[in-house]
Amino acid sequence: MKPMFKIENQASGKTFLTDGDDSILSDALLHGLNFPYGCQKGFCGKCKATIIEGEIGYENGVPNGITSEEIDDGMALLCQCRAKSDVLLAVAELDSAFDIEVRNLPCKVQTINHLNHDVVQVFLKIPGAQSLQYLAGQYIDLIHPDFDPRSFSIANAPINSDVIELHVRLVEDGKFTHFVFVKLKEKSLLKIEGPKGNFFFREESKRPVILVAGGTGFAPIKSIIEHAITTQLERQIYLYWGVRDEVDLYMDLPFKWADDHNNIHFVPVLSEPNAAWQGRVGFVHESVLADFDDLTGYEVYACGPPVMVKSVAKSFVEQGMIRDNFFSDAFVFAYTTSHE
Ligand SMILES: Cc1cc2nc3c(=O)[nH]c(=O)nc-3n(C[C@H](O)[C@H](O)[C@H](O)COP(=O)(O)OP(=O)(O)OC[C@H]3O[C@@H](n4cnc5c(N)ncnc54)[C@H](O)[C@@H]3O)c2cc1C
Ligand code: FES
Repeated sequence: MKPMFKIENQASGKTFLTDGDDSILSDALLHGLNFPYGCQKGFCGKCKATIIEGEIGYENGVPNGITSEEIDDGMALLCQCRAKSDVLLAVAELDSAFDIEVRNLPCKVQTINHLNHDVVQVFLKIPGAQSLQYLAGQYIDLIHPDFDPRSFSIANAPINSDVIELHVRLVEDGKFTHFVFVKLKEKSLLKIEGPKGNFFFREESKRPVILVAGGTGFAPIKSIIEHAITTQLERQIYLYWGVRDEVDLYMDLPFKWADDHNNIHFVPVLSEPNAAWQGRVGFVHESVLADFDDLTGYEVYACGPPVMVKSVAKSFVEQGMIRDNFFSDAFVFAYTTSHE
C-alpha cells in the first residue's frame, strides 16, 4: 500500500493526509482547508508557505513564482510541490470572505447551455495563468461595457477556479439577462469582479445543514453541495428547492446527490405544479417548517428571491432557528439601469 503523509498547518492546527500524488494545495482544498492561492500554475506566488519540517519536491523543476533565496529560507509554492514525507508548514488560511482579495479579471465565455425555457448555464474561462479564489456560495459581478455590472452566484465548487459556472435566469424586460440569452456567444469576452458576499459555507460547524433554494438560488447551493461532496463532509444536508413547476427544476443533479450520498436529502417543492405532480406543493419554506418541529440545532442557508429569503428568516426564527446560524443571499436587483 502507498504510504500516506500527514500535512499539518501550524498556523491553524489543522491536518490532512496525502499520498503525495497531487500538490499539497490541491489536497488541502480537497480536505476543506482554504489555503490561499492565485494562478495554481506556479507563477503568482500567492500559495507560498513556510515549510517548518519535512520534505517536499517539485515534479517539473522549481517554478518561476519562487526565488532561490525564498527556497533557502524554507518557503515553498504549495500549488506545485508534493509531499515526500510528513510535513509541518505554516500558512494563513482564509476563513472569512474578508480574507480573500476581490479581483477584476478578464474571462472568455466557454460554453452556454440552455437548461430550460428561462435558465442558461454559462461557463466562463479565466485565461492564462489566472484563477479566482472564492468560498462556496459567493458571487461575482459580471462586467460588460454596455451595461452596469450584474451579480450572479458562482455555481461550481471552488476546486476548479479557472472556470466559473453561472446559472442565469431570464428576467422579463431584463436588459442584461436578455443580452445573455440572445446575444452572448461562446468565445465572447467579459470581465468579472469578485468574489463577493458573505453567503458562504461555514466549514467549522458540526451542525446539520438545511439549504433552501428558490429558482436560480440553486446556483450557490450547488456550489456548496459539490464542495461538501468533494471534502467528504459527513454532516446531514437537507436541500429544499422551490420552483414554480417541474420544468423549472432545471437540473436533476439533486436527485443524483440524494441517491449517491446517505447524508444528502432532497425535497423539491412546486408552487404551481402541473396535474401529474405527486410531490410537495406550496411555498418552499412551508415544507421545511412541516418537516422540522424545532430548528434550534440546524444551520440554515437560504438563497433566491428576496420575498422567499424574508419568509425563511422570519418563520424559521419563530420555529427555533438561531439567527447566528442563518446565512442568506437575496437576489435583489442591486443596480439602477439609468445610464444604459
Ligand atoms: C448577490 C446576488 C446574486 C445573484 N445571483 C443570481 C444568479 O445566480 N442567477 C440569477 O439568475 N440571478 C441572480 N441574481 C439576480 C440578477 O443579478 C438579476 O436578475 C439581474 O441583475 C437582472 O438584470 P437585467 O439587466 O436582466 O434586469 P434589469 O434590466 O436590471 O431589470 C428589468 C426589470 O426586471 C426587474 N428585475 C431585475 N432583476 C430582477 C430579479 N432578480 N427578480 C425580479 N425582477 C427583477 C427590474 O426591477 C426591472 O423592472 C443575483 C443578484 C444578487 C444581488
Ligand atoms: S497559486 Fe500562483 S504560484 Fe501557486
